Amino acid sequence: MGTVTRGTTNPNRLRRMDRWIAATHGAELRRAADPVAVDLGYGAAPWTAVELLHRLRTVAPHARVVGVEIDPARVAAAEPYTRPGLAFRHGGFEIPLSRRPLLIRAANVLRQYDEAEVAAVWQRLCARLAPASEHSHGGLLVEGTCDEIGRRHVWVALGPQGPRTVTFATRLGSLERPSDLAERLPKALIHRNVPGEPVHAFLRDFDRAWAAAAPYASYGARQRWMRAVRDLAADWPVADGPARWRQGEVTVRWEALAPRG
Ligand SMILES: C[S@@+](CC[C@H](N)C(=O)[O-])C[C@H]1O[C@@H](n2cnc3c(N)ncnc32)[C@H](O)[C@@H]1O
Repeated sequence: MGTVTRGTTNPNRLRRMDRWIAATHGAELRRAADPVAVDLGYGAAPWTAVELLHRLRTVAPHARVVGVEIDPARVAAAEPYTRPGLAFRHGGFEIPLSRRPLLIRAANVLRQYDEAEVAAVWQRLCARLAPASEHSHGGLLVEGTCDEIGRRHVWVALGPQGPRTVTFATRLGSLERPSDLAERLPKALIHRNVPGEPVHAFLRDFDRAWAAAAPYASYGARQRWMRAVRDLAADWPVADGPARWRQGEVTVRWEALAPRG
């Protein structure tokens, strides 16, 4: 279910997203009897699926990855990369697996769809996630966008019940101001970066905090980012802490950035 779109991908493009998933969802994956992750829309070459397996296995040695692509030629091209723990399937938003995965990662997939389609796709994918239970928060859908070489990312994380958080992740050395990340907002937010919308107010406040933290630049961009995020957390529900900020990340509750109306 869905449509074939451009297959652009790159080795190591999704490392920031992979690292965040390993850090925030690793315990869930480790606890599961059969931790299955889906790399949905892996593109013209399956590098991101290979790398996701590698990075998940550092925290959950039994993790498996299934790459799912809607373009049959891309599934055929990926076949030689099949190995223990890594398989490729033809399919789309229906997620053609018999069991519900603990992770669905869809990177640079929804950007090529219409904004109006996003809510229904999210709902469909969330319904395919492993459900929450007494021992688990359930599966995680990570849906977002980045530039060609993965220096700037923004993604939404959703659980079986819907959106939870938005994460901004960047290579700090190349950042002029936090709103540089606006061009990588996921489809649900990119058209909402206009006055009156929460995501616009957030990026405006982030730029102000960044400007106020300019004196910290002499200690490096990392110190400046950490200071700016600390200030931002006074007014916005920042959901993570300094250990993640150090990586050039910040995660905010979805409710604070969700589009109006
Ligand atoms: C731009 S590539 C992204 C590749 C990789 N995820 C990355 O970030 O580097 C988008 C891929 O998503 C695939 N795609 C689009 N809609 C899809 C769907 N509904 N289900 C599975 N794959 C889909 C396209 O065929 C394309 O290969």
